[in-house]
Amino acid sequence: MVVGSANFDIVLGLGRLPRPHEKIRAARSTTGPGGAGANTAVWLARLGREVTLVTAVGEDLLGEATRAGLVAEGVDTRFVGRIGGGSTGVAVVLSDGSAKRMVTTGGPPLDDAIDALPRSLFSPGVHLHVAGQERGAATILCREARERGATVSVEANGRVVDGLVPYADLILVNADELRSLTGPGRSGVPARARRLLGAGHGTVVVTRGAAGAVAVSATGTVTAHAQPVTVVDRTGGGDAFDAGFLDVWTGNGDLGRALEAGLALAADVLGHVGARPPLPGR
Ligand SMILES: Nc1ncnc2c1ncn2[C@@H]1O[C@H](COP(=O)(O)OP(=O)(O)OP(=O)(O)O)[C@@H](O)[C@H]1O
Ligand SMILES: [Mg+2]
Repeated sequence: MVVGSANFDIVLGLGRLPRPHEKIRAARSTTGPGGAGANTAVWLARLGREVTLVTAVGEDLLGEATRAGLVAEGVDTRFVGRIGGGSTGVAVVLSDGSAKRMVTTGGPPLDDAIDALPRSLFSPGVHLHVAGQERGAATILCREARERGATVSVEANGRVVDGLVPYADLILVNADELRSLTGPGRSGVPARARRLLGAGHGTVVVTRGAAGAVAVSATGTVTAHAQPVTVVDRTGGGDAFDAGFLDVWTGNGDLGRALEAGLALAADVLGHVGARPPLPGR
């Protein structure tokens, strides 16, 4: 069960940013469905997992395209809310390979879709992954899913997710997000991850771009190197990492292999333009 945004992405590949009043042409572009929740759900479906996405789109052309795209990928869309009068979220990504700058409209809030989710869907063996949601409905969902025996992962995706942290078996962050969650100071990544763990949850997974990723839990620290790749577009790397990681972790709980699977899928995605490139064999 994945909770998170579903957007429409416009990714423009640029050599440099335009100056004020300047018109420049993108060297390449791709448009298509995206959004952190939807991307992770689609990769999990492509990896052969049964996935339900909880999200919200507008009652507009992009909302219908988003829903149809998820259906075509084999994602269960029963809990994709269509909000009358709301506009489907749009993300414009300016990408120069090594870095990306992203502007999103946010899209409709997910609270109603989350509140409407029957809690009877959660039981031991079900995993809930919540991407980019702060407090409110998402906090209650994590708590109730956990009470019913499901496992829970929380991906920060640029948000301060401290309200959800007490209910998460897994917390997935990049190094900047870890710093936002653990405050100022000079502590390194493992020390900060342990500080978050002190709040009582299982494992903190920190992605470190080209430096790979690390998983810190009560039993120790596991690190893995990033796969060598020529990065052409950073869009969707973190979402793909989460899917690769969760596919293995929910299977056998092996942190080292889960890190490797996440890093391998992320590298494949970063080597292509767009968040969900077709990858032969995936
Ligand atoms: N230069 C790189 N080479 C190989 N892999 C990379 C590189 N940069 C990023 N990655 C992969 O992408 C994953 C996610 O990227 P990163 O750690 O930068 O998180 P992020 O900034 O949160 O990304 P996103 O914005 O997509 O969520 C990393 O764990 C790593 O697997
Ligand atoms: Mg991220």
